[in-house]
Amino acid sequence: MNEWWRSAVVYQIYPRSFQDSNGDGIGDLEGVRRRLDYLTDLGVGAIWLSPFYPSPMADFGYDVSDYCGVDPMFGTLDDFDRLLTDLHDRDMKLIIDWVPNHTSERHPWFVESRSSRDNPRRDWYTWVDPKPDGTPPNNWRSQFGGGAWQWDEHTGQYYLHSFLAAQPDLNWRNPEVEAAMLDTLRFWLERGVDGFRMDVVAFIMKDPDLCDDPEPPTEELPRSREHPDVHAVFRRIRAVLEEYDPPRFSIGEIYEPNWQRWASYYGGELDELTMPFNFSLLHSPWNARVFRNLVDGCDIAVPPGAWPNYVLGNHDEVRLATRYGSSAARGAAMLLLSLRGTPTLYYGDELGMEEVDISPEDQQDPWGRQMPGMGRDGCRTPMEWNTNPNAGFTTASPWLRVADGWEARNVASQGETSTLAFYRHMLALRKVTPALVMGEYRSLDAPDDCFAFERCHSSERLAVVVNFGGEDRRVDIPGTLLLSTMLDRKGPAEHLDLRPHEGVIVRL
Ligand code: NOJ
Ligand code: CA
Repeated sequence: MNEWWRSAVVYQIYPRSFQDSNGDGIGDLEGVRRRLDYLTDLGVGAIWLSPFYPSPMADFGYDVSDYCGVDPMFGTLDDFDRLLTDLHDRDMKLIIDWVPNHTSERHPWFVESRSSRDNPRRDWYTWVDPKPDGTPPNNWRSQFGGGAWQWDEHTGQYYLHSFLAAQPDLNWRNPEVEAAMLDTLRFWLERGVDGFRMDVVAFIMKDPDLCDDPEPPTEELPRSREHPDVHAVFRRIRAVLEEYDPPRFSIGEIYEPNWQRWASYYGGELDELTMPFNFSLLHSPWNARVFRNLVDGCDIAVPPGAWPNYVLGNHDEVRLATRYGSSAARGAAMLLLSLRGTPTLYYGDELGMEEVDISPEDQQDPWGRQMPGMGRDGCRTPMEWNTNPNAGFTTASPWLRVADGWEARNVASQGETSTLAFYRHMLALRKVTPALVMGEYRSLDAPDDCFAFERCHSSERLAVVVNFGGEDRRVDIPGTLLLSTMLDRKGPAEHLDLRPHEGVIVRL
């Protein structure tokens, strides 16, 4: 099927943390390849690999110094090709991360750009004179704290960095930059990748006049990102993806709570991103009413013919099982995997991995080192495979410690009623139940603390109900219980007493 992303479950792998294959304590591409049996058994349709490009690792690969290579830490281009071939042999797709907003300060483009004011690449980044009093040109803030302008002594100007100073923003208003970046897409498309996850992609267009951001933030668009000109660039990116048959996929990282604005990134003619990430649930409390409103809001906002998506975890966020509590996490996963839209799973959530408290002296994440409390290491700890030392992740000392409790909570030790078993059942059910994947969505009235909805496809009707609360709730849905998050009941039912945090899928 051309539009494989409508039915596929996407599984995000943070390559540093999945599997080390050469005993240096850091995960790598060959490690991922050796774990493909696991992903096949789990039943995911695509993997998204966070960056593996050559990088000084100031932001663990989100600071790219060569868009067309593999960092030796992660392997070689041959390793990449082998991984891709093996994935395709298993009928799985590969989505790779693309970091268009900024390069590493060590990218040759920036090295040239900062070398002198008249370097031909000067205008590949945003350089500006100080205000008469020497201060930066405006109030834009770095997402990692502090101002977004870095003073360059050598050439006497500031450059823009929306993230770390080691991540200077490219100037996408320069057509040469755009052409060079579109070529980096083609490089990977020629190798056969199926799509891209596009890092902070709406940041690439900002106010050309560099006006101040509203402070405090208001409903209006900020000036430092999401400039309306970004839509035209998205159309040109889409055109590159459509040079291939079938057209390749894109999912853009855009934190935009305004549904209308969010939906605009599909494009008026569905000619921009295949989909903008929908992070609404990720940032909402575990509350049935709030979830219902958000899902209804999304389902209405998605333009006709376009396809929604949902996310409950990634490498930037506190682990799902910690945000909602371990007993609620399965219900949350049932929602993620049964709502209308492509689900993205984050590695390890299927084991119920929790956020790990990393002490200040062991912090690896530059954000955490720059702003105490903001560190993202806690959700990036090594995948837990078995009872070997370091949970089978590495034979060396791992780059981040393995989370406490791994001896019991690892792939090899998960039993028949475990969280992993639940994910496997859930993914298997999707494969044989078209309504769960393609069906129309309609929310239903439900008892307090419960979120219920229908998925309907031709003659198949399903009801999904999740009890968000800590008390039993009775729901009247006559039908056949296909799956409970607790994996301990099935079969015909007139009404169901949902236990605390239980979720069920019923065929009506
Ligand atoms: C968003 C990525 O998800 C995050 O990990 C990274 O630090 C920033 N973009 C900067 O690239
Ligand atoms: Ca390694």
